[in-house]
Amino acid sequence: MSSVALGIPALRRDPSTAPSMEGRPDSAELVDSFGRVAHDLRVSITSACSLRCTYCMPAEGLPVIPTDELLSAHEIARLVGIGARDLGVREVRFTGGEPLTRPDLVDIIRLSALAAPGVELSMTTNGVGLDRRAAALAEAGLTRINVSLDTIDREHFAAVTRRDRLPAVLRGLDAAREAGLGPIKINAVALRETLPDAGDLLAWALANDVRLRFIEQMPLDADETWRRENLVSAAELLAELGSRFALTEAGREDPSAPAEEWFVDGGPATVGIIASVTRSFCEACDRTRLTAEGTVRSCLFGDDETDLRSLLRDGSSDDLIAQYWRGAMWNKQAGHGINADDFHRPVRSMGAIGG
Ligand code: 5AD
Ligand code: SF4
Repeated sequence: MSSVALGIPALRRDPSTAPSMEGRPDSAELVDSFGRVAHDLRVSITSACSLRCTYCMPAEGLPVIPTDELLSAHEIARLVGIGARDLGVREVRFTGGEPLTRPDLVDIIRLSALAAPGVELSMTTNGVGLDRRAAALAEAGLTRINVSLDTIDREHFAAVTRRDRLPAVLRGLDAAREAGLGPIKINAVALRETLPDAGDLLAWALANDVRLRFIEQMPLDADETWRRENLVSAAELLAELGSRFALTEAGREDPSAPAEEWFVDGGPATVGIIASVTRSFCEACDRTRLTAEGTVRSCLFGDDETDLRSLLRDGSSDDLIAQYWRGAMWNKQAGHGINADDFHRPVRSMGAIGG
């Protein structure tokens, strides 16, 4: 069946199997059974991408999701509105795959901004094609972007992403800066192949006034080649950067921020390290995720998904949709469990969840 080939887990479609609310306090917000509350919404809007990062996508890309299975711009905006109005969502980040591959991205932003006034709307992007759309996105209501960039060495970039597009990314960054989509953050996955480039990437970030954060690689690659022995840990990365810069601990921006910040050469500039594997921060997780097909995924690593698309399309009220969403989050798992002996990778790879 196509859903198996897509690597998409079994869904709850039948309202009679609505997520259990047993023991849940009477709160409007997205509370879970471990006492966490989600205020930060990640919305994946496609699994298509212009690049093929080896730690994320297979070389041939992920199977295309048929258009009628993707949420439309109006459906996305309706869910964003429900999140903001009824569920306590304070911040929305659009992700993919690559959001810029959606022809209706500007509509998605514009409608979402109208549905959730005052809520910060940001986007995680690889930057390819951003030069042509940054101004329109800012005008539609996008406030900020995170750009994924692992190295500024063009050959290494081409090897990691399987595409020679570094110049396009850099053009996109310039356009974003001009459009006022700052402060721009750069996400770099810490990789064995690009570890020697880490210092150059930080020097470049400092010179270009962007905020760099390294992320430990998680077992979310479609090719399933992740091995703990190959992991570049936060400690190893700090040693690499420390050979060129003086780093002093600056703490976290706020308690639920995944990045630990380090002052570079006395500050005020900082570099962030997201130690997703070696120092997991699941206990402070404040995220709720929607997939491009309109399911709530309470955790990156949980295969349990709750379908909201059927509700959006069968005339269900905002209240009922909100209630399913609350139920999905109440049942959120404790954490990714990467460090446990019985760890199982999620069925979806990163490109099909969104970071
Ligand atoms: N581990 C860690 N981060 C990843 N990303 C993609 N795949 C992985 C992985 N396996 C990052 C991307 C992007 C964000 C969406 O998630 O680089 O910055
Ligand atoms: Fe595309 Fe981002 Fe995955 Fe790279 S990490 S293949 S840019 S979705």
